[in-house]
Amino acid sequence: MISLRIALAINALSYICALVELAVADDYRPTFHFCPAENWMNEPNGLIKIDSTWHLFYQADPTANVWGNECWGHATSSDLLHWDHLPVAIPVENGIESFTGTSYYDANNTSRLGTSTNPPYLAFFTGYTSSNGTQDQRLAYSTDLGTTWLKFSGNPIISAALEAPHDVTGGLESRDPKVFFHEPSGKWVMVLAHGGQDKLTFWTSLDAKSWTWMSDLLASQIEGFPSSITGWEVPDMFQLPIQGTNETTWVIIFTPAQGSPAGGNGVVALTGSFDGETFLADPVDSSTLWLDYGRDFDGAMSWENVPASDGRLIIAAVMNSYGSNPPTNTWKGMLSFPRTLTLEKIGSKQYFLQQPIAELSTVDSTLASIQNQTIAPKQTLLSSIHGSSLDVRIAFSVDSGATLSLAVRKGGSEQTVIRYSQSNSTLSVDRTASGDISYDPAAGGIHSAQLARDNTELVYLRVLVDTCSVEVFGGQGEAVISDLIFPSNSSDGLSLEVIGGTATLQSVEVFSVSL
Ligand code: FRU
Repeated sequence: MISLRIALAINALSYICALVELAVADDYRPTFHFCPAENWMNEPNGLIKIDSTWHLFYQADPTANVWGNECWGHATSSDLLHWDHLPVAIPVENGIESFTGTSYYDANNTSRLGTSTNPPYLAFFTGYTSSNGTQDQRLAYSTDLGTTWLKFSGNPIISAALEAPHDVTGGLESRDPKVFFHEPSGKWVMVLAHGGQDKLTFWTSLDAKSWTWMSDLLASQIEGFPSSITGWEVPDMFQLPIQGTNETTWVIIFTPAQGSPAGGNGVVALTGSFDGETFLADPVDSSTLWLDYGRDFDGAMSWENVPASDGRLIIAAVMNSYGSNPPTNTWKGMLSFPRTLTLEKIGSKQYFLQQPIAELSTVDSTLASIQNQTIAPKQTLLSSIHGSSLDVRIAFSVDSGATLSLAVRKGGSEQTVIRYSQSNSTLSVDRTASGDISYDPAAGGIHSAQLARDNTELVYLRVLVDTCSVEVFGGQGEAVISDLIFPSNSSDGLSLEVIGGTATLQSVEVFSVSL
């Protein structure tokens, strides 16, 4: 009798498991976004293009589906769409984990780690010794075009003792080196974050191996920087032209651990001047400070060594700000879809603009196309379209007081709704009914962002949907919202509606994306 009950219970259990498995058949694996073949990832590291190959390194725990044993995972791609998973590039060794950092081409072999005919690629990373909590800065190098990496025998290149006078924890929280060669001064520059602190430090070197502290950038030195934005991590630094002017400016982006519009961490961008030693930040306008208004975009980093003939500044970040809570079993954490970052003056303000990289249009096929149509309340468009890996582009204008809504991953009671409200020029992503939101207190809710331009003009919306994510680019790309969603597999419908007035759809294009 007991064994019969046990057998029945086992049967019921396996039936429930089968049902759960059916609902999430592919474990929510995205189609055109990178995620690890198995186990954990957090932010990207050392992004670099070498010859025609895009390298992606990333914080990985190759042994478990949770943060720990951090090392540089590695993948390569010829188009930023199809990725080959490679062996770990910079492993944990002697109890020292490999935290975030930069890869850079040492074209003049200033480090002497390569030769003048075969200059090395350098990877700067933070060594984290878990037994005593030390974080020091280390170097690895590659003489085979980034395929394999050797650790420099003189590590660390910046010891905890050298960091101590510049870090309130004495070198327990100094990390995430962004390194580049500064041509005007002929020196290497390193930018370090100081975890839990609101500052970056700047260091210089002639040979990339021996470093001297130069300056601090503190929150208090940045006019208008909100005091609620704290715990700076993962800096990146580069130059960008200011479109609409003849100027170029220095840009620093970093990830504060607290204070983002959607709560938790996010990515801010500063402009300023830099003389090779000290960064002087321009006053901050808090309405143009954040690169993303969703919950799931942090630790952003740019690809180095992109040829001038390409000329794009391309960034990517990790999508997952819930630790090991998301309901994926075989992997955790994915890369945002790579985006271009530009800077433009619109009216009196300077905006960072982001757009998905153009390569996406090489792998899409049209599902629906609508031109010059007016839509009124109670009408629904796109309801016959289905798909969970989509690129949706809409150009429209709305009546005063009207709101246009695009629902994606729709089915049963589930939907994720992207709205544009004319009255306050606001874009939002509503995850309240997006599927499983029970896995984390921050998983549901509505995130919103303001568009820059006056709403009487055409409004542009670009929405990437990929199995468990939405990335929404509003306007010229000044308002971006990136969020994870976990709908049932069967929720693959769409709808386009308007309330409070009519909308004129200049064009609606829905593409299915498959690799
Ligand atoms: C950011 C971060 C970095 C660090 C890495 C460790 O999430 O804390 O500052 O290098 O994660 O995995």
